[in-house]
Amino acid sequence: MATPATFRIWRGNSTGGAFQDYTTSVEEGMVVLDAVHRIQAQQAPDLAVRWNCKAGKCGSCSAEINGMPSLMCMTRLSAIDLSIPVIVEPMHAFPVIRDLVTDVSWNFQAKKTIKQFKPRPPDAADGTWRIQQADVERVQEFRKCIECFLCQDVCHVLREHNKHDEFIGPRLLVYAAALEMHPLDTEDRVSDLRHKHNIGYCNITTCCRQVCPESITITENAIIPLKERVVDRYFDPLKRLFRI
Ligand code: SF4
Ligand code: F3S
Ligand code: FES
Repeated sequence: MATPATFRIWRGNSTGGAFQDYTTSVEEGMVVLDAVHRIQAQQAPDLAVRWNCKAGKCGSCSAEINGMPSLMCMTRLSAIDLSIPVIVEPMHAFPVIRDLVTDVSWNFQAKKTIKQFKPRPPDAADGTWRIQQADVERVQEFRKCIECFLCQDVCHVLREHNKHDEFIGPRLLVYAAALEMHPLDTEDRVSDLRHKHNIGYCNITTCCRQVCPESITITENAIIPLKERVVDRYFDPLKRLFRI
């Protein structure tokens, strides 16, 4: 049965904007993106919204729904209190292009600053490698990332402190962990993690892990092991004593 619901959607561009209320009918099974599309089709044809798969796999429809960084296509209206307006706004950690669309290109630039995969030479006669299944599985989780950047959006270091020039953020720490823990990789990123990517800015709030739509255990499985590598190299008293 169709019922009316109000969506308070941020409209504007890089110079500023404001929330605007739209009331539309919603039905069982709809997600926030469906409602936004209905409003776009019936009331606001110039409403800008980015989406692609509507299946939680492309990472395009990231926004903030009632203050929580979320994928619009994976947020069911049945999970939201529709007796009050549903607030839909663009991610806060990135510049707004228009309405619900933000410019996330900084993430791709920052990704380029991480040292690339550097495999060791093949160890089998046929020119391939032999690796343990357990080592493969360790990094597999990180490869589920859909680059929605919701974790970047929620992290206070980027969101509140605007440290984009200094801190690569949780998504890119996951990427660095996938490379660092790869069983074939020989590159050394520990110095960069400390001095260039400033992993020390992360104070393990776990907010990033809590918003990840792929349920990647960002803090415990990626960031903390990377921090341990930094601590082992730079803060182990014995290693410090003998470091040249
Ligand atoms: Fe999105 Fe999770 Fe990847 Fe962060 S780690 S970009 S929240 S999928
Ligand atoms: Fe930010 Fe995640 Fe650390 S939210 S502070 S990167 S645990
Ligand atoms: Fe692809 Fe939402 S439209 S993740």
